[in-house]
Amino acid sequence: MFATGVTIVTMRAKSGQLIGLTANSFNSVSLEPPLVLWSLARKAASLVAMCETSHYAINVLTAEQQALAEQFARRDIDRWAGVDYTIGASGAPLLTNVAATFECFNRSRYEEGDHVIFVGQVEHCTHHSETSPLLYHGGRFFTEHLLGDAAVADEKHTSR
Ligand SMILES: Cc1cc2nc3c(=O)[nH]c(=O)nc-3n(C[C@H](O)[C@H](O)[C@H](O)COP(=O)(O)O)c2cc1C
Repeated sequence: MFATGVTIVTMRAKSGQLIGLTANSFNSVSLEPPLVLWSLARKAASLVAMCETSHYAINVLTAEQQALAEQFARRDIDRWAGVDYTIGASGAPLLTNVAATFECFNRSRYEEGDHVIFVGQVEHCTHHSETSPLLYHGGRFFTEHLLGDAAVADEKHTSR
């Protein structure tokens, strides 16, 4: 019942292999220093690479990227086939046309239950404020709509 955004966490493994997986456990932790967290299932194939990497990127998806979210949660495919990306300052792949990107130093991790919580220190970030977010709620994908006075004001603004 808790609505979240949707991200794809990306990194380049020691072997050079590109790693990426869909995660909605992303959240903010601290402004000074800038810290974020997300959690990864212990059984995930990317756990070893995630523990070894010094840096990773968190790519916040837009409403147009549901297919990408599904692609990076599947096991039986090449997740990177047909995916546009650039390489960030830290060496992690950055997906193009996302709502926001956080390039993180892999600062600390906490093993809790069947997940591992990763805390990342944000070294670079970018965002595109005109995009609509991809949201996840009750196992389904959504995007946002404004409520109350803000919706009325927005309607007046766009119909002008
Ligand atoms: C919307 C959505 C959110 C997800 N969030 C997480 C998450 O926060 N942590 C996690 O471990 N798996 C999450 N998953 C599942 C992983 O994306 C999926 O298990 C993936 O296959 C793991 O990749 P790996 O086994 O290659 O590491 C999520 C899947 C979806 C569709």
